[in-house]
Amino acid sequence: NMPILEQCYNLLDFEAVAKHVMKRTAWAYYSSGADDEITMRENHSAFHKIWFRPRILIDVEHVDTSTTMLGDKCSIPFYVTATALGKLGNPEGEVVLTRAAHKHDVIQMIPTLASCSFDEIVDAKKGDQIQWLQLYVNKNRDVTRRIVEHAEKRGCKGLFITVDAPQLGRREKDMRSKFEDVGTSVQKVENDNVDRSQGAARAISSFIDPSLSWKDIAYFQSITKMPIVLKGVQRVEDVILAVEHGCAGVVLSNHGGRQLDTAPSGIEVLAEVMPELRKRGMENKIEIYIDGGIRRATDIIKALCLGAKGVGIGRPFLYAMSAYGEAGVNRAMQLLKDEFVMNMRLIGANKVEDLNPSMVDTRGLFTH
Ligand code: FNR
Repeated sequence: NMPILEQCYNLLDFEAVAKHVMKRTAWAYYSSGADDEITMRENHSAFHKIWFRPRILIDVEHVDTSTTMLGDKCSIPFYVTATALGKLGNPEGEVVLTRAAHKHDVIQMIPTLASCSFDEIVDAKKGDQIQWLQLYVNKNRDVTRRIVEHAEKRGCKGLFITVDAPQLGRREKDMRSKFEDVGTSVQKVENDNVDRSQGAARAISSFIDPSLSWKDIAYFQSITKMPIVLKGVQRVEDVILAVEHGCAGVVLSNHGGRQLDTAPSGIEVLAEVMPELRKRGMENKIEIYIDGGIRRATDIIKALCLGAKGVGIGRPFLYAMSAYGEAGVNRAMQLLKDEFVMNMRLIGANKVEDLNPSMVDTRGLFTH
């Protein structure tokens, strides 16, 4: 007795449906967080500690939700972030997200560990649709170099290097479920020995290089012209280092609570980072993104008020895709867009540039 698609009114509704309709192993992989899942829960609940300070009597008849990310236009300041193993939830995999992203003029980040091949995902894009590459750096740098060069040749507009996963976190829900589906769902990664006894995450991640360090950034800059963004930055000192190393951006993220448990949420880190960057006159030297726990347009607006250029959304689109296929992802994106326009009006903003720190009260973030 599942709700029909039209009965999903927000992103959380898709999660409730997905939990019931998905295979147990797939649900375990998508929904799990590290250890006690404290960070995963905090990612969303941190937004509840921020209150709006709306303006009134502003003409908000017309609301323009468009923006740019890494210099490319998109219709709204969220993107589909990289999540591995799309075929666990839907037999077609990540190309479903590609098609929905095109329909809504939303940017998609392609995961290294996609179920579809990289070329299938690029082939599924239409026109001048924007895609980025998420990179897990392989111990074998030749493999990594080939992936990066190929992505640039195929038109990817940004290189997001994941820096919060020198080792995969313990996602116990995932580890408990025997992972028989991994073999068919993961794209073959060179040098990878799939060990199915440890859950999906461990099974596919053994190739990741834990020795990756700041000195490698110059190497990536030497092999690509794509702007480089570090995904998984968790404190201001590292944002400053990213600026000093010539990175185009950072994603303040804890990997959806799947890595270090009790790491802070992206929105909390953002609230600390932006004032420090402004103090140093660095706020325009780098684009700041956040992800983790974003389920409502109000969450997106809060992040933008605090200085984020855009936000990444992961699980909600996986759940929508798993429960209802492409139509589900389309509806999830449309719901977010409708929420976004409505809440921009209610806060008194016509365009994303109007959003500023005075529109939020963050005192609740700093009183534990
Ligand atoms: C992820 N994430 C992730 N990140 C990454 O850099 N490479 C990856 O392969 C994956 N894979 C992945 C799989 C699944 C199932 C999830 C849920 C997440 C992390 C992802 O990019 C992002 O940081 C979080 O998903 C954001 O949090 P929400 O929106 O899921 O709460």
